[in-house]
Amino acid sequence: MDLENVLTDRLAPAFATVAGVPVDPVVRRSQRADFQSDAALALARRLGRPPRDIAAEVLERAELADVCSRAEVSGPGFLNLTVADQALAGLVAALAVDRRLGVPVAVEPETVVVDYSAPNVAKEMHVGHLRSTVIGDAAARLLEWLGHRVLRANHLGDWGTPFGMLIEHLADLGEAEAAQELSMGDLDTFYKAARAKFDADEAFAERSRLRVVALQGGDPVTLRLWRLLVEQSERYFMTVYDLLDVTLSERDFHGESSYNGLLGPVVEELDRLRLLRASDGAACVFPPGSVGRDGEPLPLIVRKSDGGYGYAATDLAAIRQRTGALGATRLLYVVGLPQRRHFEMVYAVAAQAGWLAPPARAEHVGFGSILGSDGRMLRSRAGGSVKLVGLLEEAISRATALARERNPELGEAEAAEVGRAVGIGAIKYADLSNDRNRDYVLDWERMLSLDGNTAPYLQYAYSRIGSIFRRAGVAARPDAAVSLAEPAERALAFELVGFGRVVGEVADNLEFHHLAGYLYRLAAAFSTFYERCPVLRADEPVRESRLVLCDLTARVLRQGLHLLGIRTPERM
Ligand code: ARG
Repeated sequence: MDLENVLTDRLAPAFATVAGVPVDPVVRRSQRADFQSDAALALARRLGRPPRDIAAEVLERAELADVCSRAEVSGPGFLNLTVADQALAGLVAALAVDRRLGVPVAVEPETVVVDYSAPNVAKEMHVGHLRSTVIGDAAARLLEWLGHRVLRANHLGDWGTPFGMLIEHLADLGEAEAAQELSMGDLDTFYKAARAKFDADEAFAERSRLRVVALQGGDPVTLRLWRLLVEQSERYFMTVYDLLDVTLSERDFHGESSYNGLLGPVVEELDRLRLLRASDGAACVFPPGSVGRDGEPLPLIVRKSDGGYGYAATDLAAIRQRTGALGATRLLYVVGLPQRRHFEMVYAVAAQAGWLAPPARAEHVGFGSILGSDGRMLRSRAGGSVKLVGLLEEAISRATALARERNPELGEAEAAEVGRAVGIGAIKYADLSNDRNRDYVLDWERMLSLDGNTAPYLQYAYSRIGSIFRRAGVAARPDAAVSLAEPAERALAFELVGFGRVVGEVADNLEFHHLAGYLYRLAAAFSTFYERCPVLRADEPVRESRLVLCDLTARVLRQGLHLLGIRTPERM
C-alpha cells in the first residue's frame, strides 16, 4: 500500500463525517510538506463553512498519529501532512522483503491481446515499426507482470494485391536466389525491384494480376511461393526482434491471411444485422459518429467492389476472434496515430455488431513519428526510409565505442555486451521516455549521454549500486532494520514506495514516459542520497539501513527497466 492510499484511508472517514457524504480527500505530493489534501476547499461552498474550519475539524477527527509526525491546516484550507520517519521506514522495510516491490498482482486478471510490431512481408521494417515494437513489447511485459494473460499478436501484413507482383518477381528470380536475397534481410531491394518491374513492364503487371487471382483461388504452386516469401520475411523479422530484446516469438505471428476463412462469416453476420450498405459496388458499414469534413457519413469498406477484402475486414475478423474464441476483454492496438480514424471506425462497427461489448474494450495505443535532427521525418541520406537494423547496428557500435572509452578495464567481450545493452537500451528508452502521442527527434548524443533522462544514466546508476556491494564484499540483507533521518534518505524512500502507484497508472494509460520519468527521479534521488549520506563508512545500524535503501533502489531500477525491455549490465 503506498502512502497516498494510507493517507487517503485515514482522511476519508473524517471527511465523510464532516461532510455527511463520501469525499475523496485528494491526497497528493506537496512542496510544503510531504503530502497535502485540498478537499476542504472544494467542500466549503457545499457546506457553507470556511474551508479552514472544515480542514481543522477533519484534522481533529482523523487518525493520523501513527502515520504523520505533523499535520496542520495551511493557507486557505489545505491540510499539510508530514509523514513520520518511522512510518516511512516501516513501508520501506516492508517493500524490501516484498519480491514484487510493492506492485500487487491484478485483482481481476484479464486476457489482453497486444497487437504490435506488425511489419509487412517482403518489406523492410521502418522506424514506425520500431515504435510499435518497443511500446507494444513494454505493454506486454508490464501487463504480464501484473498477472494478466497476455496474447501477443503480430498482425503481419501478408496478404493483398502486392503479393501478385512479389510472387511473380520471386518466380523470375528463382526460388533459391530469392530466398537467399530475402534471408540476407534485403527486403527493400526485393520489394523495389518487384515494384519497378510492375510499373515498367506491362506483361509482368498482367502476370502479377493473374497471380493475385491464383493466390486467392488457392493455387498450390502460388501458395507455395507465397509461403516462401512469408517464411523468409518472418525469419528476418525474428533476427530483428532478437537484436532488440523483444519478447515476440514465431508463435505470435498471426498474419492478416490467417483471418481469410473468417471474413465470409463477418460479412454474413453484418448483413444479417442489417448493417451493410452498398456504396459504389462495395459493401460498407456507416458507423454512427463517423463523418467527414462536411458532415457526410463515412463508410468502412468491408468488401471491395471487386469482391476482395481489405484491411478493415481483417481487423473486424480479428476483433471478433479475439473477444470471441480467445476470450479477451482488453484489446490493444499499438499502431501509429495516422491510423486512428481506421481503428475508431473498426471499433465502432465491431461494437454495433456485438463483437466488442463491455467488459471487452479496444484501445488504440497510438504514437507519433521519429524525426531527424532537421525536425522532419527521419530519412536516410539517400532520402529513403531508414532501415531499422541499420539504426540498431549504429546504436550498438556507438555504445560499444563509448563503453570502451569510459571503462578501459572492460574486456573485449564485456565491452561488446555492455555496448549492446546500452545501445539497444538507449534506442528503446529514447522512445519510451517521450510522450508517445508526440513526435520526437532521434538524437544520438543525447540518448547515449550518461547525464539526463537516458537509458545509460539509469543503467549506470544500477551498476554503481552493484559496485557498492562488491566493494564492501557484502550481500544485501533485505530484512535489516530501516531507519530514516536525513532529508536525502527520506526523499529516496518516498520515491521507492511510489513504484506501485506508477506501475498501476501506466498499466491503465500505457504512457510509459511516466514510468521512465519515475525511474529517472528515483535514480536522481539515489544520486543525491549517495552524495550526502555515507553508506559503507556509516556506523551500524545506519550502515545496514542505508544498504537496504541501496539494494531496494537497484531492484526497483532493474525491474522498472526490465518492464521497458531494457537490460541492466552489472558492470559498465
Ligand atoms: N501492417 C500494418 C502497417 O505496417 C500495421 C498493422 C497494425 N495492426 C492491425 N491490426 N491493423 O502499417
